[in-house]
Amino acid sequence: MSTNGVDLNGHGIKNTPYLSENQSQAFLAAHADEAPPAGKKLKVCVGGGGGFIGSYIAKRLMAEGCYVVAADWKENEFMKPQEFCHEFHNFDLRILENCKKVTDGCHHVYNLAADMGGMGFILSNQSVLLYNNTMISFNMLEAARQNGAKRFFYSSTACVYNEDLQKDPENPGLAEHMAWPAKPQDGYGLEKLYAEEMALAYAQDFPLKVRVARYHNVYGPRGTWKGGREKVPAAFCRKACASETEFEVWGDGKQTRSFMFIDDCVHGSIKLMYSDCGIPLNLGTDEMIDMNAFAKLAMGTRGKDLPIKNVPGPLGVMGRNSDNTMIKEKLGWAPSISIKDGMQVTCDWIHDQIQQEAATASQDLAKYGTSEVVVQKTDTLDALDRKSVV
Ligand code: NAD
Ligand code: GDD
Repeated sequence: MSTNGVDLNGHGIKNTPYLSENQSQAFLAAHADEAPPAGKKLKVCVGGGGGFIGSYIAKRLMAEGCYVVAADWKENEFMKPQEFCHEFHNFDLRILENCKKVTDGCHHVYNLAADMGGMGFILSNQSVLLYNNTMISFNMLEAARQNGAKRFFYSSTACVYNEDLQKDPENPGLAEHMAWPAKPQDGYGLEKLYAEEMALAYAQDFPLKVRVARYHNVYGPRGTWKGGREKVPAAFCRKACASETEFEVWGDGKQTRSFMFIDDCVHGSIKLMYSDCGIPLNLGTDEMIDMNAFAKLAMGTRGKDLPIKNVPGPLGVMGRNSDNTMIKEKLGWAPSISIKDGMQVTCDWIHDQIQQEAATASQDLAKYGTSEVVVQKTDTLDALDRKSVV
């Protein structure tokens, strides 16, 4: 593990080359025209602030001197609100009125809220997530405009890319222009691509600077690790802790991905928000690995080397990697934390979670050696009529 740089979140990983440790202060110093009145802090709203990435971004912005308003329809599982924000609002962000309340007076708005998960969620929940995410994305953007926010960050995804370019596991890297002509692999990617376009149109028509990051599979401590919404890094960490005789991998394991550790995601998101880059940017590493090799790497963090059992499951695309030419050009930086370092930290954290559960309740460890697929339910849609406007 490298010792250069700064340990952003106390994870013990210090290999991100930081241009400025305190990006918020550097931004304010360089943009007097966008700074709040003297004595006032930059006020920031983080939609989805109760979630994995949103809570990290909120926590970092608070540490950098911003006044942070976090909004989510659930509280963060692992931190109390005061650990990552000044105000926490338990609101349904599909509703414009709620979005307006939480963005009131905010200079910057980050939208990290989405009905979201890995392949065990996205492919089996298309209708509900299409509705929910479309409503959130449109209403957070419009609320930011109505409240006169200066900048808006949208968390898009590598799922926007054309699936025809992701059939070969030897993916050479997806460059930003490859999202068009559009043919995303699932409804989630299409909804994200449309929300990107809407945000870019707002930037053209209104005095709102829009920044769009296309995240490539983000992982780390405090991410979802069980229940079916978890992505493969957390699923493999959990299996590495729980499996004793064999290690289950959905598909033939030849499918490839690149993965970004949370510290790189936080740093890159804030750096992009404060940049002059008005086009969507990949935010991911270009360290591509196939799922069988990834399973072995995860097992290695627990000192195991079990036989792999390839089982049927939802697969997504066959090959995906980030082309980082554009981000290096625009930001002079790219994510760099290695999968090996990031996975060690993440697997250690999931191991602790499992131990904590075992200490408080009887535990069926065997169930953690397998992954669930989430069955679609309409409860969030049905709730719209009843309780959404807080
Ligand atoms: P997450 O599920 O941990 O966070 C999303 C948050 O949004 C959750 O806390 C959820 O409760 C909240 N939310 C959902 N619907 C809501 C509603 N109607 N009202 C209020 N809050 C609502 O997921 P994450 O990994 O932190 O993802 C953050 C963003 O990044 C999402 O937009 C996601 O699509 C995007 N993204 C993530 C990844 C990844 O690998 N984690 C990859 C690509 C894109
Ligand atoms: N989740 C999961 N769980 N995936 C597994 C498992 C398992 O136990 N075993 C093998 N896989 C395989 C999947 O079949 C898929 O081929 C690959 O690992 C990656 O799965 P995910 O991590 O669930 O999703 P993804 O990389 O296809 O897409 C994720 O990243 C996108 C951004 O890059 C999702 O989180 C998307 O929402 C996100 O936008």
